Amino acid sequence: MVKQRVLSGVQPTGSLHLGNYLGAIRTWVGEQYDFENYFFIADLHAITVPHDPKALAENTFTLAAMYLACGLDIQHTTIFVQSHISAHAELAWMFNCITPLNWLERMIQFKEKAVKQGENVSIGLLDYPVLQAADILLYQADLVPVGEDQKQHLELTRDIAARFNFQFGLPEQPILKVPEPLIRAEGARVMSLTDGTKKMSKSDPSEQSRINLLDSPDEIRNKIKRCKTDPTRGLAFDDSARPECHNLLTLYQLLSGQSKEAVAAECAQMGWGQFKPLFAEATIEALRPIQERYHALMDDRAQVEAVLRQGKEAAEEVAQQTLQAVKDALGFSRSL
Ligand code: TYM
Repeated sequence: MVKQRVLSGVQPTGSLHLGNYLGAIRTWVGEQYDFENYFFIADLHAITVPHDPKALAENTFTLAAMYLACGLDIQHTTIFVQSHISAHAELAWMFNCITPLNWLERMIQFKEKAVKQGENVSIGLLDYPVLQAADILLYQADLVPVGEDQKQHLELTRDIAARFNFQFGLPEQPILKVPEPLIRAEGARVMSLTDGTKKMSKSDPSEQSRINLLDSPDEIRNKIKRCKTDPTRGLAFDDSARPECHNLLTLYQLLSGQSKEAVAAECAQMGWGQFKPLFAEATIEALRPIQERYHALMDDRAQVEAVLRQGKEAAEEVAQQTLQAVKDALGFSRSL
C-alpha cells in the first residue's frame, strides 16, 4: 500500500521549546514509520521579520541537528533546507498572483506580528502564508502535522489549492493535492510558564516563559520552581479557572509518558510544592537523550551536512515535478 505523504517545518529562529516539540516534532517522530515524510527548515520564513544574517546559517544547521536528535530517522524521512530548493520561492510567486489580498489580511499571526513591527512590516510578513502554501503543495502532502496556531495557515493552503485546481485544472484531474492538518489534541497548544492563557513562544521576551529543549537541568528546575501556579490545593485537568494547572499537568503527562487518568489520580491530592520537583525531574529525564544526541551530532558536523545534501536531492525531485505541472497549467513556455 502506498504510504500517505507528510510534510512540515519549523523556522530557524531561536531555540526550540516544549511547544515546538510537543505540538509538532514529537508527532513527526512518533508517526514517521507510518508515512512518507518530508521535514524542512523554514529559513525563507525566518527573514520575514528582521533577522541577523550572521546567525541564519548556523541556526539552520543547529535546527537540522535538533530534528535528528529528536529522533527523525533518515531511512524514512527526508530532511532539507527550504532555501536550497528554489521551487518554494518560485511557486510562492505564482500563488501570489492567484491569491486575493483580503485572504492574507485576515491572518491572525500577521496581525499579531505586524503590531510588533510598527512601520517596518514587510510584504514578506503579509505573504508568509502563501510561501507556506507553496511549501506544502509542492510536495503534494496528504497531512501536515503542526500545533494549533498553524490551523489558519493550513486552511489558507487548502483554499489556495482548491482555487488553483478550479481555475487551472480539470475536476477529474486536480493538479494540487488538498492537504489535511494533523493536530494532535494533547500538546497542540502548550502555554507559557508565566501565563497559562498565552501560548509558549520563541518570541516572548521572557526566557522564564518557556523551557527550551537544550536548557540545562538547573535551568529547568529554576524555571519550574518560579512558574506561575494558583493557591488551590489538589491538582486537576480541564478546570478553565485554572489554566496554569491544566497546562502543567498536560506537560507532565506528555513528558513522563503516562496516561491522563494516571496523572489525574497521582496528582489529585498534591500541592505545588510536591508537584514541581516531580515535574522538573520528568522534564529533565525526557530531554536528556535528545540533548546527548544533539551534542554528539554537533561534534560530527559532516554527518548533518550529508543528511542535508541527500535531503536536498530527494526533495528537489518531487518539488520540480509539481512546479512543472503548475507552470504547464498556467501556460508558461517550456525552456528549450
Ligand atoms: P514555528 O517555527 O513557529 O513553529 C514550529 C511548530 O511548532 C508549533 N508550535 C506549538 N505547538 C504547540 N504549542 C505551542 N506553544 C507552539 N508553538 C509553536 C507550531 O504550530 C509549528 O507546528 N509557519 C510555521 C513553519 C512553516 C510550516 C510550513 C509548517 C513554514 N512552512 C509548512 C508546516 C508546513 C511556523 O512558523 O512554525
